[in-house]
Amino acid sequence: MTFNFDQEIDRKGTNSIKWELEPQDYDMQQNPDAGRLLPLWVADMDFAVPPAVVDALVKRAEHGLFGYSMPMDSYYETVIDWHKRRYGRSLAKEWIVLTPGVVPALNMIVQSFIQPGDKVLIQRPVYYPFFSAIENHGGEIVSNNLVYANGRYTMDFADLAQKTADPAVKMAILCSPHNPVGRVWTADELRQFGQICLENNVLVVSDEIHCDLIMPGHNFTSFASISAEFEQKSIVCTAPSKTFNLAGLHTSNIIIPDEEMRERVKQTMDKQRMPGANPFGLAATEAAYKHGEEWLTAVIDYIADNNKFVAAYLAEHLPQLRPIPLEGTYLLWIDCHGLELDPAARRQLLLNQAHIFLDAGEWFGPEGEMFERVNLACPRSVLVEMLERVVTAVQQKSG
Ligand SMILES: Cc1ncc(COP(=O)(O)O)c(C=O)c1O
Repeated sequence: MTFNFDQEIDRKGTNSIKWELEPQDYDMQQNPDAGRLLPLWVADMDFAVPPAVVDALVKRAEHGLFGYSMPMDSYYETVIDWHKRRYGRSLAKEWIVLTPGVVPALNMIVQSFIQPGDKVLIQRPVYYPFFSAIENHGGEIVSNNLVYANGRYTMDFADLAQKTADPAVKMAILCSPHNPVGRVWTADELRQFGQICLENNVLVVSDEIHCDLIMPGHNFTSFASISAEFEQKSIVCTAPSKTFNLAGLHTSNIIIPDEEMRERVKQTMDKQRMPGANPFGLAATEAAYKHGEEWLTAVIDYIADNNKFVAAYLAEHLPQLRPIPLEGTYLLWIDCHGLELDPAARRQLLLNQAHIFLDAGEWFGPEGEMFERVNLACPRSVLVEMLERVVTAVQQKSG
């Protein structure tokens, strides 16, 4: 089957946050023609989902009844099969806890294990909802910053050992693959990370929401598949949402092998009457994991080509912007030091002159302030438009 990812699909009028939300710093007076704003920010794709998912949703809609829902055996079997087939990981059905998203899950996990004053370790620059997931529930953030050298990010294990030696550090949230820097951590890196955390009794919560979006030449390893001990002493967050562009269906699978930890998270969910499942999310997840693999292979190829295209374009026309090699995710992290603009001036240029809406690097922590994050999951024509606008705005600025 072929898929036409070049097709531009109009998402205006579909309640899309990506396309409808205007950032507060978008100057409407200066830009009365707001329709020009090109959104390449929040992490969803501008591609239609696998046809089998559409078919499953239409079938479910035609049934006409949408009451409270729960996952049945076939749902669990499909999720288990996906992890086995793709990552060689054997999950037990009871380990899988459904939540309406990974971010809600992270909030509930922090609530379940962190007391006010406890510390939670993250690795900035990192996905910013981690910050609020920790701070909303009385936790204190400790950052084991990633090391940026020679255009590449790595982990600082000496700093990790030092920070986790503090008994107040109770949990570490790992972003694997890492948003925004695009690293797919190797088994060796994960082993070192996990050993240091375990030695210091730090619970590892591995956010693996991007694990299916791995660029050619790289391999994903789940934190939990490193060893039986890592598996028992960790929580892994997974979802079909990034993989198959289903974020609006609010369905994610949190893997908690340890029974006591699992019960604690479930109790937190129960206290808030947090719904686990909805009829469309269940139908779409089953269809995607059963029939979506060919689409996934094709979409990864397309994103990999988008990445090559952007890198080649920037090298030729705007070498002041240096993309960081993309190993996984569809989010390209771009080093903007060469523009020699402070973050506010760069934002002004991109938003109000080029009319491009990106995730500003500083949102991911102060370490990200000289960077921008671009969502590559869109037709190539949109990237061409974005790049041409940026080149024009930079030329106007310096000309
Ligand atoms: C690392 C990471 N975790 C979680 C999410 C969002 O998860 P959800 O929509 O399931 O809450 C994202 C979305 O971009 C993400 O990049």
